[in-house]
Amino acid sequence: MSTATRPVVSLRGAGLAFGDRVLWDGLDLDIRPGEYFAVLGGNGTGKTSFLKVLLGLLPLTTGTVEVSGEPPRRGSGRIGYVPQQRAFAASTPLRARDLVGLGVDGHRWGIRLGTRSVRRRVDELLELVGAGSYADAPVGTLSGGEQQRLRIAQAIAGDPELLLCDEALLSLDLHHQHAVSELVDEQRRRTDAAVVFVTHEINPIIEHVDRVLYLAGGRFRVGTPDEVLRGDVLSELYGTRIDVVRTGGRVVVVGHPDSSHHTHDDQEMAL
Ligand SMILES: Nc1ncnc2c1ncn2[C@@H]1O[C@H](COP(=O)(O)OP(=O)(O)OP(=O)(O)O)[C@@H](O)[C@H]1O
Ligand SMILES: [Mg+2]
Repeated sequence: MSTATRPVVSLRGAGLAFGDRVLWDGLDLDIRPGEYFAVLGGNGTGKTSFLKVLLGLLPLTTGTVEVSGEPPRRGSGRIGYVPQQRAFAASTPLRARDLVGLGVDGHRWGIRLGTRSVRRRVDELLELVGAGSYADAPVGTLSGGEQQRLRIAQAIAGDPELLLCDEALLSLDLHHQHAVSELVDEQRRRTDAAVVFVTHEINPIIEHVDRVLYLAGGRFRVGTPDEVLRGDVLSELYGTRIDVVRTGGRVVVVGHPDSSHHTHDDQEMAL
């Protein structure tokens, strides 16, 4: 297969279980360059674990996985990763720009870029995520949303072939949710990166999404949002009555069993 048509992610008969607990099984999936792929599902359904498989941090229980035609390996410069949020300790001895700089000259080219070009690229990335005003602040002193914007800048810094985002919009205000969502999509279009975006809430990204993987109770569905986010499809997946309401371009899932885990606004958080 030529490089041009080679999938970025390829899974065959892929399954992941912890002990007796099967998170997903029998997953056959190719994600192509430039595809925007969302992973949806309730807490503990295996979304983060899916990303860890692609990162080479977690082995499959069954089946095979390839990223850019090879078994995934830790620390690959081809992958940009925005981890599910954890705060930096207040004492973390890095400035905002140091964190983004790690994404620019950390590993990707093998040789370090000249200091001036690194600085220029870091400044450009800081501006892109709206972090220019706190570029020199210690990261541990920044708010959760400010830290998150830096993680996104770091993840796209090396123009990865595969961009993995785990709940990347969490703790961003609406303005920055929109800005970051646009930034990820612009990056995808500019570099033809494949994006795998894990989220509970598809609405902020739904206009960009090509396909979704919906995980529930050890089972899954893959397809376009129109194919998967339907009452009949989700009712079958969950084995209980689910309604999907589309209103003003938004998708709201009603009667979702996972929604009982959420403490606020069940319907909107349901995805
Ligand atoms: N290394 C591990 N050993 C045993 N169990 C694990 C391990 N990693 C994850 N799990 C379990 O697998 C399940 C799926 O975890 P995962 O983090 O993938 O969920 P998630 O879909 O990302 O959930 P959330 O929406 O809460 O982030 C959880 O029940 C978790 O406790
Ligand atoms: Mg998770």
